[in-house]
Amino acid sequence: MCGIIGYVGDRRASPILFKGLKKLEYRGYDSAGMATSGSGIHLKKVVGEVKKLKPFLSSLPGTIGIAHTRWATHGKVSERNAHPHLDCSGKIAIVHNGIIENHEELKERLKGHEFRSETDSEVIAHLVEENLSRGPLKAVFEAMKLMRGSFSFIVMIEGFPFLIAGRKDTPLYVGIGEGENFVASDVLAFPKGTKVIPLEDYEVALVSKESVAIYRDGKRVKKQARSVSFFEDFEEIEGHYMYKEIKEEPKSVSRAMNQDLSEAIRILRENEVCLIASGTSYHACLMAKLLFSKIAGKKVEVYLASEFSHFLDSIPKDAMIFAVSQSGETADVLEAIKLAKRKVISLVNVPTSTLARISDYVIHLNAGPEVGVAATKSYVNQLVIFTLLAYGLAGKLGEGRKLLQDLPKEIEFIFSQEEKIRMLAEKLRDKEHIFLIGRGYSYPSSLEGALKIKEISYIHAEGFAGGELKHGTLALIEKGTPCIAFVDDEEILNNVNEVKARGGYIIGIAGRHNELFDEFIAVKGFFPITSIVPLQLLSYHLGVLRGYNPDKPRNLAKSVTVK
Ligand code: F6R
Repeated sequence: MCGIIGYVGDRRASPILFKGLKKLEYRGYDSAGMATSGSGIHLKKVVGEVKKLKPFLSSLPGTIGIAHTRWATHGKVSERNAHPHLDCSGKIAIVHNGIIENHEELKERLKGHEFRSETDSEVIAHLVEENLSRGPLKAVFEAMKLMRGSFSFIVMIEGFPFLIAGRKDTPLYVGIGEGENFVASDVLAFPKGTKVIPLEDYEVALVSKESVAIYRDGKRVKKQARSVSFFEDFEEIEGHYMYKEIKEEPKSVSRAMNQDLSEAIRILRENEVCLIASGTSYHACLMAKLLFSKIAGKKVEVYLASEFSHFLDSIPKDAMIFAVSQSGETADVLEAIKLAKRKVISLVNVPTSTLARISDYVIHLNAGPEVGVAATKSYVNQLVIFTLLAYGLAGKLGEGRKLLQDLPKEIEFIFSQEEKIRMLAEKLRDKEHIFLIGRGYSYPSSLEGALKIKEISYIHAEGFAGGELKHGTLALIEKGTPCIAFVDDEEILNNVNEVKARGGYIIGIAGRHNELFDEFIAVKGFFPITSIVPLQLLSYHLGVLRGYNPDKPRNLAKSVTVK
């Protein structure tokens, strides 16, 4: 998934690149590197987090440079495989995000070149080298013609006062400053106030300190830079973003509620829609299916974006795709949309994202920047919007708004039990397995709660529809096995009894206490939304108590731009 950034201006490049790269770290954090150009190319790579580059910034002179934070795909995590990569002459440096699928074939073609890494990315430097005599821009166009797969990349060449950047299928933005310009995988990496030009597939940008020229199919195109307010309230913090973002929920749900949804409701009323998403956003879609069915009697299908292609034959020609994504950059979601070739309505958090740009109609999540790898406040906002859409579809939007009007206070009520939740985490920290059960609305909640526990604490957790336990999984329950039960109806208590009878340790998330519970977290308000908040806090505390960084779970990255 990787984050890339480039700078060209009058200021020293290395500290600026470092600051930007830190903000891109959510995209990958197994190794990092930087190259600057100033009387030769200067290069430094490290294994581990971006902060490890800090001591070397003074050894990287020059006012032009590129940097990279890696999430390994091809080639193990090592200094050698960290970016930037150089060509044979050492005069061309590149950073890349994505996968060059035909790298083996290109390496064959580049016989005689000296490859120093195991990565697919290094071919870009050598492809540019092959054609450099025809001019830097031409050399990049020629390289792009040969590359297959997904890529956003930045090329820096010794002696040239500009960077060249291009993209296909993964995000890349040009940032326009005063007498200095930037390129990066995410707008977040730019200093506040920077105007932005999103690059589209096969566009190439030539970025110098005074100007930016954009080319498509080799021809210059005019594109307008625009201001982006979304990231204005992003602040760097000392603690964990996951915690900060959970604590922002009372505010961010209010932003989700206070928007006009009438056009979205009209579109949903008039069209058959297929919901597609990945991970946590997929769980929100499962909840949407229930909300639409129970509240509005509207049937929708829900597909995992990565599995969507297998169902393409049965999707009606005039159905709309309803794509749901926090980042708006998830490769599986974008690929499903490409395959579907149908109109798209989307629910997106990042307004500058590819998904927002390619959709026919966008509903904004308005959760504000979410940097912690685990989706928290974005999930809650997805549920708020789906609830309002369901009420809107039923012609009862006012009733829906009334139902949620105290949501900020109800979330604060969960926060007031944080110490209890932290103590529960103490009790669970050494468990190997945790089961979660729920029925109806609480089935998606049990899946989402399990995902949070797994990714943040690395404890095996599984969510089930309560009635399904007896069809197999009950065999795993023994004395002391923790089972988190979302208790919002009488029926789930039958399943809680089944677990309890086999010695299970019952953690009840419920409106009121029940004698079956060994532990109890009280929940007020609209249960499908508020009941997930204790699970977010529990996962956070489990991760911290077990010594892990919840913002950077192993093997994961926030914006999943590879398929
Ligand atoms: C889990 C998590 C992921 C994302 C998934 C989709 O906490 O964050 O499962 O939900 O990668 O991401 P978006 O919503 O950006 O498409």
